[in-house]
Order: sequence, then structure tokens, then C-alpha cells
Amino acid sequence: MGSSVYLDYNSTTPIDPEVIDAMMPFWHEKWANPSSAHGFGNQVRRAVDRAREQVAALIGAEEPSEIIFTSGATESNNTVVQDTLSYSDKSTTLITSPTEHAAIMGPAQQLENKGGSVHWLAVDKNGSPDLNSFDDALNRANNPLISLMWANNETGVINPIPKLAERAVEKGALFHTDAVQMTGKLPFRIKDLPIQLLSLSGHKIYGPKGIGALYVRRGTRVAPHLVGGHQERARRAGTENVPAIIGFGKACELAASSMDADATRINRLRDQLEHDILISCKGAVLQAADAERLPNTSNISFDRLDGEAILFMLDDQQIYVSTGSACESGSLEASHVLKAMGVESRHLNGSIRFSLGKQTTEDDVNRLIAVLPPIIDRCRELAPHIDTDA
Ligand SMILES: Cc1ncc(COP(=O)(O)O)c(C=O)c1O
Repeated sequence: MGSSVYLDYNSTTPIDPEVIDAMMPFWHEKWANPSSAHGFGNQVRRAVDRAREQVAALIGAEEPSEIIFTSGATESNNTVVQDTLSYSDKSTTLITSPTEHAAIMGPAQQLENKGGSVHWLAVDKNGSPDLNSFDDALNRANNPLISLMWANNETGVINPIPKLAERAVEKGALFHTDAVQMTGKLPFRIKDLPIQLLSLSGHKIYGPKGIGALYVRRGTRVAPHLVGGHQERARRAGTENVPAIIGFGKACELAASSMDADATRINRLRDQLEHDILISCKGAVLQAADAERLPNTSNISFDRLDGEAILFMLDDQQIYVSTGSACESGSLEASHVLKAMGVESRHLNGSIRFSLGKQTTEDDVNRLIAVLPPIIDRCRELAPHIDTDA
């Protein structure tokens, strides 16, 4: 990265060198098909099983067999929405929220377009499901499937998933959470929670891209998303992406060992970044300031400015941030998350997500703080019609 400053860890993370080392033999020495009955295949099968144990350990699953490897959280989320419902009563409702990641919003909208029943919850000012709306939806739906993310990728807001799952399970609902942003940042033990399904992604935790998992609690039925092979106990057909699986397992092991120390250090830097931006940049507003948030994420709006302009000026200085979620940058659409939170229009377009990670240093934060206030001033000069005190 040279002298650049990367503050976009919620988008993706660099692969840990130890993860690369763990993967290497599976490209050029141990390349057998794990389904082959011979000893060479068995060696690889055992390595895949070990990776499954490492993933299960990070999330505190009861059994490694509850982990199905997928191509990433997008596939895991699609599997839940498209294939859990196919095992249920046709009248089953999906209950979800308008602040979910596109990987849930997309399949939910597709389901709705095909005539399926989707209940979109009301959310509070932090984007978390409104509890009355949640209880109301539970009372009205028949054995619904609920899908709510644990931590929001744009704002870092942590939803009260254990509490919501508790209420849901009393009503016979099936509960899925997209735990992509929570995993590896804060600890949890899935076996102690009434959650049946959970999505994970490798590249958000210093592992490879194109690999993830779906946790399926023992006894929960999910139809396979991909059919045509017996892999993953016939729950996800296709020859396994072995090197990526091995890397994902190693990344989980590393995350489990460094999570507490990382969270403390990163949280301190994130708080410094927020404090310094809020005092040095005119018109800066922290989104979801009073919510429980991930230790690494800040979403800051710059009053009446254009986030894309700020992003490109930071980019010129080799400082890499994001506006809204990465999937939406490039389009000038305001963030669907901030819109659902009811954020005022003057704060909608000028929002920047800063997300810190393992490699973030105090120097990185200081460098951002040195360049951001003049960039904000410059943006205001370029938009002179804007009255910042209004
Ligand atoms: C909350 C959340 N869910 C799902 C995804 C998609 O994950 P993947 O890239 O593994 O498909 C992301 C990635 O941006 C995410 O942040």
C-alpha cells in the first residue's frame, strides 16, 4: 500500500500472510479432489474438515457439521431466502428490514416480485428494527422466516439480535442473521443463542475472497442452493474451493486469537478519528451516534456536501474510504440505509464511511485529520451557494 491510507475494511480486508502460507500447499502439492476415495483425496478431505472446525470454533457452533462452505455471504444469504422457504409452507412470510445489505434486499425483492410474502419492518433512527413493528409482524405471520443483520456494514450499528431471536423463537419463527460484519470483530457463541441460520464471509476477516459459509443449526432444513453433487453432505453441490476453504479456516483461527486485543486498539483509534473529525470539520455529523456500534466503523455526514466529491479528493491523497456501501458507490443514489433511518436530506449525500482494521495506525488517522478539514473547506468553496449555518 506504500504511503496510502486504507480506511475501507468493511468493504474488504488484506489477506493475512499466515493465511496465504496455510493456503499455498493446496495449490501445488495437495491438489487432490477431497471427494476422491484414495489416500491423496483423503488428506485434502481431512484439511477441509479441519477448516470446518476452525470456522465452527470462531462462532461457537456446537458441531463443525453445522458449517456449509459457500462462495461467500451473498450465496449464503440467497440460500436462506430462496431455499429455506421452499421447504416451508407456501404461505410463509419473510420478515426483514430496509437496512439490510443488498445480498438480502435483492433476494427479498425478487421473492416479493414473484408474489411471495415479505414484511418490511419499520426501523428506528439508528436503523435497528422497531420492536413494536417486530412483535406485530411476528403476531401476524405464520411460522415466518426472519432475516436481520447483526451489524450494519454502513453504520456499524449492532442490532439486538439475541433479544430479537429470543422473541422470534417463542413464536415458532426461523431466525437467520447476516453476521458478516460482526464476525471477527466482537465475540459470540451461536450455540447459546436461538438462531438457526447465520451467514459468514472470508474476505472481511483477512481471509480470501470468494469463500464464506452458512451456519445451519442441527435439525434445521434448508434446501441446497446448488444441486448436482453430494458435496457438503449434499447441501451445496460442486467441487470445493479447497485453497480458499483452508485460508478461511486459518483466518477464523487467527481472528479468534486476536479479536479482543484488536477490538480494543481499533476502537481507541476510531474514537480518536471521530473526535478529531467532529471538531475540525465544519458541518460534520456522526450517524447513529448514540447506538451500540462496531469498534471499527464511523459513518460521518458532511452537511450539504457531496460524498463522492469528498471521496475523490481523499483518493487524490491516496486515502481510501467509502460512501455508503461499496456496492452502491459509483451510483449517485443516496444510501438506502441512511434513507431508512430518516436522515435529513442535507446529510444524505455527503456521508462517508470510515472503517478501520488491523493495519490501521495512529499515523493513518493523523494523516486523514491533516488533509480532511481543508478538503471539506474546498468542497464548500466549490459549492458556494450552500449556507453552512442554515
Ligand atoms: C453485511 C454484509 N452482508 C453480505 C455481504 C456480501 O458478502 P460476500 O462479499 O462474501 O458475498 C457483505 C459484503 O459487503 C456485507 O457487508
